[in-house]
Amino acid sequence: MSKVAVVYWSGTGNTEAMAMAVAEGAKDKGAEVSVVTAAEFSPEQVGQYDAIAFGCPSMGAEQLEEIEFEPMFTACEGRLSGKNIALFGSYGWGDGEWMRSWESRCNDDGANLACNSVICNEAPDDDALAACRELGASLA
Ligand SMILES: Cc1cc2nc3c(=O)[nH]c(=O)nc-3n(C[C@H](O)[C@H](O)[C@H](O)COP(=O)(O)O)c2cc1C
Repeated sequence: MSKVAVVYWSGTGNTEAMAMAVAEGAKDKGAEVSVVTAAEFSPEQVGQYDAIAFGCPSMGAEQLEEIEFEPMFTACEGRLSGKNIALFGSYGWGDGEWMRSWESRCNDDGANLACNSVICNEAPDDDALAACRELGASLA
């Protein structure tokens, strides 16, 4: 059974709803899934999982959330080479720039982006939740 972590930060619940759907998709495919917030995750845990889904909304000016998520992710980056990961998150008024930057950062880290990232505007609708479940399934 593959072990999948869903690691997320969410201020108003939109990315959290996406995280729950990602977890559901991975569980339905038979994975053992841990859902943890950015504050609960540390680089030492990266090696414990076969795959990791990272979720963070667009904050600041097209940036990752800077108090909890960004420091956690920065600390994990040295361990992502060759790792199966996927990215998801919600945004507001932008055009997804934060996700494009985040993806290229992961590529520079040598991570294996296992599927297309999922982004959605504010609260995820049914299509976005379905895409999140697929993202989870592709990591399982
Ligand atoms: C402080 C702050 C900064 C934000 N900056 C951006 C931004 O640069 N681009 C954007 O598209 N949305 C931005 N947003 C909107 C959020 O990404 C959006 O509301 C998202 O749904 C929040 O997800 P969450 O409910 O998981 O916290 C910002 C929101 C806040 C509160």
